[in-house]
Amino acid sequence: MAESSVIIRRAKPEDAAVCGHICYEAFHKINTDHNFPPDVPEPARGVGLLTMMFSHPGFYCVVAESDGRMVGSNCLDERDAIAGVGPITIDPHAQNRGVGRKLMDAVLDRARERNFAGVRLVQAAFHNRSISLYTTLGFDVREPLSVFQGRAIKKSYDGFSVRVAELSDLEACNAVAMRVHGHARGGELADAIRQGTATVVERGCRITGYASAVAFSGHAVAETNPDLQAIIAAADGFGGPGMLVPSRNSELFRWCLAHGLRVVEPMTLMSLGLYNEPKGAFLPSILY
Ligand SMILES: CC(C)(COP(=O)(O)OP(=O)(O)OC[C@H]1O[C@@H](n2cnc3c(N)ncnc32)[C@H](O)[C@@H]1OP(=O)(O)O)[C@@H](O)C(=O)NCCC(=O)NCCS
Repeated sequence: MAESSVIIRRAKPEDAAVCGHICYEAFHKINTDHNFPPDVPEPARGVGLLTMMFSHPGFYCVVAESDGRMVGSNCLDERDAIAGVGPITIDPHAQNRGVGRKLMDAVLDRARERNFAGVRLVQAAFHNRSISLYTTLGFDVREPLSVFQGRAIKKSYDGFSVRVAELSDLEACNAVAMRVHGHARGGELADAIRQGTATVVERGCRITGYASAVAFSGHAVAETNPDLQAIIAAADGFGGPGMLVPSRNSELFRWCLAHGLRVVEPMTLMSLGLYNEPKGAFLPSILY
């Protein structure tokens, strides 16, 4: 396949069936080649995820075609001031021939046109190709991450009250994110509140942290580790492969281990453009 024969175009919802299978195959191959469990456990999950993203007005998604055949796709989450990239996946038979770079260029061009303050992504730390590709595109490594999985902790802490989030909590949650990260993720959080996956923690009658979901697909922000621990301990489980814990947060890391959770795989948070060192506790999602 010559690089020049590749066409990049905007994704349509009906492309999700083929691209979802590619998404499954690509993640299955890289993870099983390294003896890690696949992040997308079955093709239907890939199709479901991309059907949602290709149809959602808050995402800009592109596909790559070669000789009329789809060989990969990529998405940009445009719901908030910082854009998130992924999942980018290329058919394993078409990898390492420049298609991934073209799909990255397409979403980064879009992010520049739309003046996002920054762009972020999370990559599998054992994937030599992806970290090299993203680094040459200008992304910097920001945070080593460990995916944690295990049984729900189901514990409550005196003085910390965790409950399901409501749309009326958005402003307070955005304020926590602003204090910790310097930017808010209200667009993403509003979707999660509508889906019923978001929770908040209250301490002293005010919101001191929230999670869009305690899951691979969700992010969490809190003023302190105890606030975040209260949210994690109240969760019914850790959706998908697990929650993403910043490995440098040794206190939280040790707390997860002490509560029986196990490390599944290492990942890396990378950023391009605006990045403030967080002034609090957080869990990134698989997007950022
Ligand atoms: C990661 C992925 C999207 C990249 O797409 P691709 O089409 O295979 O990649 P490309 O050929 O466009 O680019 C790969 C680049 O990495 C370089 N590269 C590959 N292996 C490398 C290594 N071990 N060290 C340094 N550079 C390496 C290549 O030379 C190329 O750089 P170049 O464009 O400067 O020549 C694709 O391989 C994939 O789908 N992987 C599995 C799923 C996945 O991990 N997705 C990413 C989720 S974060």
